[in-house]
Amino acid sequence: MTDPATSDPAQSDPASALPPRRVSDSEVTFVRTMNQLDANRAGNVHGGVIMREVDEAAGTTAARHCGRLAVTAAIDELSFYSPVGVGDLLIVRARVNDVGRTSLEVGVRVDAEPWEGGERRHTTSAYLVFVALDEDGKPVEVPPLVVEGEEALRRQAQARVRRRLRKERIAAVRDA
Ligand SMILES: CC(C)(COP(=O)(O)OP(=O)(O)OC[C@H]1O[C@@H](n2cnc3c(N)ncnc32)[C@H](O)[C@@H]1OP(=O)(O)O)[C@@H](O)C(=O)NCCC(=O)NCCS
Repeated sequence: MTDPATSDPAQSDPASALPPRRVSDSEVTFVRTMNQLDANRAGNVHGGVIMREVDEAAGTTAARHCGRLAVTAAIDELSFYSPVGVGDLLIVRARVNDVGRTSLEVGVRVDAEPWEGGERRHTTSAYLVFVALDEDGKPVEVPPLVVEGEEALRRQAQARVRRRLRKERIAAVRDA
């Protein structure tokens, strides 16, 4: 019997010839200590520094899932919830939330923690879309995703809402 807390990739894409991958197969966690070059004179880390770490972690996850080059197509959302300071450890965790035919959404959560230990704060969340490319630079099919557990299924459902809203927004702007 199929576990109700697992999405069956064979059901979502019965035509795919590629072997399915689990979320855990490609997720990564990057950790880096923030230094003075990352920050302004007040000691606050620039948003662009965090965005770069987000893109690198997400790009690594996307390439691991696809087993090939995947380029950033869009950032659907990126929010900063609390500041990061010099001396903080930046803990960047990226994982695949959902896959389309040739694209996939990677969700990234960033936490910060004083290097000497202390309270860990959720500082950033971001959702990026990557497209897998073949040797000629053309979009190519991505492996199906095995999604296990309630939390991962919730993230997949939210990714599908973002994908639908993105298409609606693009169409609405085009038709304005
Ligand atoms: C991303 C890119 C490959 C898409 O090429 P394209 O010819 O428009 O692709 P298609 O129309 O065939 O769409 C392919 C997939 O990309 C998705 N896509 C295309 N543009 C997108 C956008 N702006 N936002 C989100 N997804 C997008 C489509 O929904 C489709 O996904 P699906 O197959 O899962 O349904 C192309 O625009 C590109 O090369 N952009 C530059 C990427 C780059 O240089 N990034 C920064 C450095 S890594």
